[in-house]
Amino acid sequence: PTITLIEHNGTQHSIVGEVGQSVMQAAMNAMIPGIQGDCGGACSCATCHAFVDEAWVNSVPQAEECESDMLEFASTRQDNSRLTCQLVIQDDMDGIVLRLPESQY
Ligand code: FES
Repeated sequence: PTITLIEHNGTQHSIVGEVGQSVMQAAMNAMIPGIQGDCGGACSCATCHAFVDEAWVNSVPQAEECESDMLEFASTRQDNSRLTCQLVIQDDMDGIVLRLPESQY
């Protein structure tokens, strides 16, 4: 599935992820600036924060408790905030768009 990540400065990156991989991992593999993933995907750092495009908000699985709790630490949290390490790529996410926050800290 193709995932589009848009940096805070507007730079767009289209990357191809694998089903079952997290969006964070796919972004790290593609060395996209703006995603940190300090904890390696353990839902304990909130530096893999991104905003799911409004058109996709209802198409992705709901955040589980650890993710909702950890999002409290994302400095620019919004209703469409997600931790990308908890967002597992599925076939039906082809074309999804996520925007990256200005800073992960
Ligand atoms: Fe640490 Fe996602 S990589 S919470």
